[in-house]
Formats: sequence, structure tokens, C-alpha cells
Amino acid sequence: MSRRLLIAGNWKMNLDSRGATALARAVKHEIVQRKLDRDVMLAPPYPYLDTVARALEGTPILLAGQDLSRHESGAFTGEVSAGMLIDLGCHGTLVGHSERREHGGDTDDTVRAKLERAIRSGLSAVLCVGESESVRETGAAASMAFVEGQLAAALAGLTEEECAKALTIAYEPVWAIGTGKTASTSDAAAMHAHLRASVANLYSEALASRLRILYGGSVNAANAADILGASEIDGVLVGGASLKIESFGTIYRAGAA
Ligand code: PGA
Repeated sequence: MSRRLLIAGNWKMNLDSRGATALARAVKHEIVQRKLDRDVMLAPPYPYLDTVARALEGTPILLAGQDLSRHESGAFTGEVSAGMLIDLGCHGTLVGHSERREHGGDTDDTVRAKLERAIRSGLSAVLCVGESESVRETGAAASMAFVEGQLAAALAGLTEEECAKALTIAYEPVWAIGTGKTASTSDAAAMHAHLRASVANLYSEALASRLRILYGGSVNAANAADILGASEIDGVLVGGASLKIESFGTIYRAGAA
């Protein structure tokens, strides 16, 4: 089954309002001009969602949060709810990014609760999974088992219909994020195939064959075509290289006919 590619930019805690607006406009220009058969998603910092939403108005570019609260509303100082993201024009959100797991204290249980909250509130969700350097050192089989465990824990409360409607998975080996190291395309493709088989086990072949699985971790203008050329890889989640239109634009076009 052919799956439409998704090129997602995670701006993390970068830019200011002027820079965010300028970058959003530049991405809009690129997408409107090229009109490739690919989806594009941008995840700016919370305070710039509104200004970026305005800059993207009238385009098919999907706006996303970088995270969300597991709670619906109430006394949770500093948190941002799914409803607020929707109110600001978000289509989706990242969930379980390794930086939220590492610095934000997100456990497998938090990730499960956030994923359910996102999808049941009407957002699409990009669920991030990936093994650390120390797990990777123990070998490919251990890495696969670890990532499969993260996936199963996150999906524990979701039905097949909910996954089909709103779920994307992003495989992001933690040791590759922001380090300039990437998994080889064949290693990444093998992990993607394993994740797809896990989804087939947990739910069905039908869901597994239609679910998009992105790769993330030091994707850049030079390696994107190779990564996107692997049939198991349905898009990329880009951090550093999404902050400049030159590199993000090149990634968007990479390997396109
Ligand atoms: P990177 O980040 O592209 O800067 O490695 C990817 C991510 O964290 O999603």
C-alpha cells in the first residue's frame, strides 16, 4: 500500500515570534509553489502557534503542538491542553518525544495518557519512540524489543479505529537526535518493518499497512533523499534542519519526481 509521505518540522524551543512568522511564510511559499504529493506539518513552540497558524492560513500545512497535557483542563500550571491546541488551529501534536521523556519526566504511562487525550480530543498524534545509546549498544534485537515495548505501552488504551483515524508513529533513535549521527537507512527501515509488524500483532495487518511511520534523528538536506527513498519510511520528523528554509525546503523536495 502506498502511503503519502509526511515531512514534519519540530522547531523545539527555538526562534522568536518574528523568526517563527518568517519561517512559516517561507515554508508556505515553498509548499504553495511546489505542490508536491506530500503532507507537511510544523510544530512551533506554544507561544508562536497563533502567529504561525495565521501565517499558514489557506494552506494544507498541518499545525501541531510539540506536547500536550494529559489533563483536560484545570489547575495544572504551565500545561497546555488538547482543547487549547485545537482552539489555536492545531491539527495534531507530537507525543512522547524523547526530550519530553528525558527532561519532562514523561513515562510510558504519561505518554499513553497524553496519546489518548490527544486522539480522543480530536487531534492527530505523532507518537515518538526510540532507543537510547545504551540500549543500542546491547544490539539490534534488544533495540527492537525496547522500541516495541514503548509502542505497546503507548497504544495500550487505543482502539484500532482511533489509531487508523489519528495515529502516526515516529521512530527516533535518541542517540541520533541533534547529534549529526543517523541510523543507516537499512537499520532504520528494519526498525520500521519491526514496528509495522508490531502494529499488525497488536491490531491488524490492515492497520499496519496504512499507518505512517516517520524517521527522525539528524535528518538533513544531504541525507533526506536516501531516507525518504526507503519504502518502509513514510516521512521524516526534522529538528535542527527544519529551522532554515533552505534545508527544510530541500528535505521537502528530496527524492520527489
Ligand atoms: P534533529 O531532531 O533533526 O535535530 O536530530 C529530531 C527530533 O528531535 O525530532
